Formats: sequence, structure tokens, C-alpha cells
Amino acid sequence: MAEKIGLPAPPQPGDTALKPGTFDGQVVFVTGGGTGLGKGIASEFARLGASIVIASRNPEHLEAGRKAIDEIGAPVKVVGCDIRDPDSIAAAFDEAEQAFALPNVLVNNAAANFPVPAEDMSPNAWRTVVDITLNGTFFCAREFARRHLTAGSPGSIINVGASYAWTGGPGFAHSAAAKAGVKNMVETLAVEWGPYGIQVNGLVPGLFPHEDMTADIQGNLERTSDKDPVQPALRVGQRQELGWAATFLASSYGRFISGHTLVVDGANWQRRALTNPEVVTVREQMGKGPFEADAKR
Ligand code: HXC
Ligand code: NAP
Repeated sequence: MAEKIGLPAPPQPGDTALKPGTFDGQVVFVTGGGTGLGKGIASEFARLGASIVIASRNPEHLEAGRKAIDEIGAPVKVVGCDIRDPDSIAAAFDEAEQAFALPNVLVNNAAANFPVPAEDMSPNAWRTVVDITLNGTFFCAREFARRHLTAGSPGSIINVGASYAWTGGPGFAHSAAAKAGVKNMVETLAVEWGPYGIQVNGLVPGLFPHEDMTADIQGNLERTSDKDPVQPALRVGQRQELGWAATFLASSYGRFISGHTLVVDGANWQRRALTNPEVVTVREQMGKGPFEADAKR
């Protein structure tokens, strides 16, 4: 009889499929690298020899990122940066170059998100998420590419996405639309910048719970009591699994992969039921009452 065993657990953090020193002498710039998955990705590059630059807004997040990379023993520079602001991004790249050198790898990990029924979403809520997630990702990619085109050097960009880029994301209309743009951007930029030696890929995490999740996202997750049994893998992702995928994509072993978006989610995004469950509106899932046009959230 076939038992439900799920997908096997991964090796522990610190293990790697790539050779030690794969990123020796390289600089990796990670937006939002002081928390959650960005910190996990930065840590895997650091373990493989990279110097790390972490760029984000909150000084506490930056310090947490610095501590994580210090503990691994890799060189690290943290820079205050709001990726909505192209001047702030340029200044962060200047600081990265002064500290180390022009980053070889850009991980566009920073994003914004909170669950809200579309009919309740204010124009500014929509703009804020699109501005950080879509515009910010493009502005960082543009800054990185312009510097490499000027220098005549190759580089690698990884845009962190989300699977509702393909499926839509009830409760996340802003983020899903922005991530669809991010995925589409990967395909355009890979073609435009391939001739200049710049590889551009997407990397999509499935469900990777972590201690830094914002209260809004955490609250959303708590609507499902046990995360593991609702995944086809019968488990959620572990941070190092995303970091391993990122380091492979940006390594010399992944050089011919470009314009691709790799989904690391144990097939959750493909999930369909044989028989459809009853429809539950986003309002009901969020425990909200009937729509009121003049209600404040
Ligand atoms: C409705 C909300 C809201 C909420 C904010 N807004 N939170 N609307 N429900 N829960 C509205 C505000 O009222 C305001 O609109 C507008 O959004 C901007 O809010 P600010 O607080 O002024 O913006 P700002 O200080 O720039 O902060 C941005 C932020 C914040 C997105 C609101 O949460 C943030 O900094 N997030 C960064 C980290 C993050 O989001 N991580 C999640 C990544 S996880 P009004 O109209 O009032 O002015 C992910 C995938 C997860 O992406 C998938 C899980 C399954
Ligand atoms: P997180 O811990 O909330 O990280 C988001 C990061 O983005 C924070 O470090 C934040 O740093 C930074 N950031 C937000 N706005 C910024 C801005 N304007 N300028 C610069 N930095 C900004 O979330 P996470 O779960 O690790 O998510 C990381 C990536 O994975 C995101 O792209 C997310 O969409 C994606 N993702 C996550 C999951 C999951 O299960 N966790 C699932 C699907 C996709 P500051 O606050 O310091 O600015």
C-alpha cells in the first residue's frame, strides 16, 4: 500500500552541492537581505565565499543581516536603501563598490505584501505594493545592468517571485499583479542583456514560513492551522533550499540558464483537487463582514 510520505527533508543548512569557494572574490547584492528568505539566500552565497551587500530600509533588519553573515565569517556591508527611489539605489551601489567592487550578482528579493480583499484596497495600498515589488525590482536591475554595460563585465540577476504570478492570488491582487510583472520582466531583460553577458532569472519560493514574516502575512498563515498536510510535499520549504537554488542559478554551472523562472515549492502551485471544494470568498477567509464602501480597514 502506498503510504503518504511526502517529499524527503533536505540536508541541513551549511551543506552545499556546489564546490567550496564557488563565489570566492565575488560580490553579491541582496535587497531585503536582513530578514527571512533574503537573509537565507545571502547566507548561502556567504558560505560559498561571496562578499555580501545587504540593502534595505530598516536599520534593525540591516543589523540582523550583518550579524548572520558575520557569523558565517564572510565580508559584509549593509546599506540603507529604499528600492522605490532610484537615487537611493544608485547610492547603495556606490557604497557597495567602495566597500568591495561592482556586485557580480544582484538578488532582487525585497518585496511588499499584505492580504486585503481587492474591493477594500486603497489606491495607495495598491501603489505601495506595486512600487516596491515591481518598480523597485526594475530600478535595481537597471542600475546593476547600466554599471555592467559601462564596465563591460558579465553579471547575474535573480528576481524573487511568487507563484500567483501565473495563477492570480485571491487576497493579494496587488502583489500577484506585481509579481506577474516581475516574472515577465525576467524574460525581457534576459534577452536584452544576454548579449552583454548578463543572465537574468526568476526564483519562486513556495511556502517558507520564517520568524521575520510581517504580522499581516503571519496572520494570514494562521488561518491554516497546520501548514504541512496542505502541501503536496507534506511539508513546507526550508530556507536553505531556496538559497541552494539561488546559488546554483548564479554560479558558473548555471550560466546557460537565462530567462527562466525556477519554482521551489514542492509542486504546491500546480495543486488542483479532483473534486472542487466549496467556494469561500476572500472576505469570509479573512473573517471580514460584508463590504461597506465607506469603511476604514
Ligand atoms: C490594507 C494596508 C495594509 C493592510 C498597509 N496598507 N497595510 N491596507 N491592509 N494590511 C495600506 C496603508 O493603509 C496605506 O494606504 C498603504 O498601504 C501604504 O502603507 P504604509 O504603511 O504607509 O506603507 P510603507 O510604510 O511604505 O510600508 C509598506 C508596507 C509594509 C507594504 C505596508 O507592510 C512593508 O514595509 N512591508 C515590507 C515587508 C513585506 O511586505 N514582506 C512581505 C513579503 S512576503 P492608505 O490608503 O491608508 O494611505 C510576500 C509573499 C508572501 O511577498 C506569500 C505568502 C503566502
Ligand atoms: P520579509 O522577511 O518580509 O522580507 C521582505 C524584505 O524586503 C525585508 O527585508 C524588507 O526590509 C525589504 N523591503 C521591503 N520594502 C523595501 C523597500 N522599499 N526598499 C528596500 N527593501 C525593502 O519577506 P520574505 O518572506 O523573506 O520574502 C522575501 C521574498 O520572497 C519576497 O520577494 C517575497 O515576495 C517572496 N516570497 C516569500 C514567500 C514566503 O513564504 N516567505 C512566498 C512567496 C514569495 P526593510 O523592512 O528593512 O526595508
